[in-house]
Amino acid sequence: MEKYYITTPIYYVNDKPHIGHAYTTILADTISRFRALIGEKPTFLTGLDEHGLKVQQAAEKNGKAPQDHCDLMAPAFIDLWKKLKINYSDFIRTTEHRHTKIVQKILKKVHESGDIYMDEYEGWYSISEERFITEKELNSGQFGQVKQIKEKNYFFRMSKYQTTLVDKIENDELLIQPKSRKNEVLGFLKNELSDLCISRPKSRLEWGIELPFDDNYVTYVWFDALINYISAIGAYSNDEQFSSLWPADVHLIGKDILTTHSVYWPTMLLSLGLPLPQRIFAHGWWLTDEQKMSKSLGNVVSPLMLIDDFGVDSVRYYLMSEMVLGMDATFSSESFEKKYNSDLANDFGNLVSRVSTLIKNNFDEKIPESSLAESDLSTNFQKIALKEQLDNLEIDRVINDIMTFIRSINVFMEQNEPWKLVKSDKGQAGNILYHCAESLRLAAVMLSPVMPSKTKDILDILGTNDVELVWGKLESGSKISISKPIFPRIS
Ligand code: MSP
Repeated sequence: MEKYYITTPIYYVNDKPHIGHAYTTILADTISRFRALIGEKPTFLTGLDEHGLKVQQAAEKNGKAPQDHCDLMAPAFIDLWKKLKINYSDFIRTTEHRHTKIVQKILKKVHESGDIYMDEYEGWYSISEERFITEKELNSGQFGQVKQIKEKNYFFRMSKYQTTLVDKIENDELLIQPKSRKNEVLGFLKNELSDLCISRPKSRLEWGIELPFDDNYVTYVWFDALINYISAIGAYSNDEQFSSLWPADVHLIGKDILTTHSVYWPTMLLSLGLPLPQRIFAHGWWLTDEQKMSKSLGNVVSPLMLIDDFGVDSVRYYLMSEMVLGMDATFSSESFEKKYNSDLANDFGNLVSRVSTLIKNNFDEKIPESSLAESDLSTNFQKIALKEQLDNLEIDRVINDIMTFIRSINVFMEQNEPWKLVKSDKGQAGNILYHCAESLRLAAVMLSPVMPSKTKDILDILGTNDVELVWGKLESGSKISISKPIFPRIS
């Protein structure tokens, strides 16, 4: 079985999870379930980023020791992922020993190879970004609280790898998507790259992984955090597992953390002599009234609130289908309700009820026999290019194509009127209803990565658990069961 290693960013535990975090995690889960559906073996990693100034400050604010603060926050994420039906393979916290020991091993290695050196640095430091910023960045005024700092620190020779990195990005050996983000990174790399400050003196920040070669310092949070992608799968501890999974097939990230993933991370890997991830995909932001949702803006929509009102599967469906991958999307409860009612309640849910009721009333609750080998529906099903779209990560298009297929089942019903046919030609009515029911099975299977529970309910109604994406697997004679509407209308 082909492996597929997919990751989400690891989330800061300075705050509770919100729709932005939920989106990336559901997206990774959906992609991972899709890969399993097409016969691959996905490994899906997510977790928490627990070091650094932001977390230390949040802990102070709550009057807790940093580790206690992290231990208190972690369940909020884990519980939400459970509620959102997130089927991750592993969940890493950067305060775990399995991670800290690998970060220290790597620091030691890079230091010994000469790619880490000490220097005195004076410059502007952004509190929110937790990094030194350039004069140009300072003048942009985008960095909120900044302060001038002069101190001795350790630096990673990022500049040494600039040319190699540019080559690999240009020829897509490291594929950065969407194209606009690739261009953004290449634009950034047109300027001479400076070396990366990878330490923080303990006098200024205590909460971090101690440098193995100087106990007066802790590791810069990004140098620590990025390593999670390899520490979790056995880098420098379990060679067999590591080489079977690395390089990652895709790192999913939000567009705000593009530079750290496309510049810092690959140069770290180049220094270690490890392969680069195959692909980095940066999605857009969820906005409300065109502003990024964030705690400080006070406009955060809690995904939990949506789930309680409308069910997990419909929230997953909305988030996955509404955001054109790579672009920003605007969330509103009106657009949620509109999409729910038109796609799920009307197009999909009603159809399931109509088809199952017709079978119940006319075919003794059993899937009818079919002597019809092909129909518009079997042809439409064959046209869906699932694998290609998945390879391009076009999840919203995959969903859209499946919905088009579902709408074509409705059209097929209208054209063939099986409710009339049963009176004149019962055999043909059975053929039509078989083709509708089989199409519903296939649609439910194809949407199962997005809506794992509701699609299971639909398969139960159709009396099948066959999830093979091959036309004709629905067995004639199997008993259907009628239930309440799967997607009751929101009024
Ligand atoms: N800890 C770092 C990532 C380290 S990865 C080695 C971090 N954490 S974060 O919690 O601040 O954000 C994690 C992700 O959530 C980012 O990819 C970010 O883009 C995403 N989102 C945060 N708010 C968002 C929206 N409103 N919409 C969509 N995603 C956004 O950065």
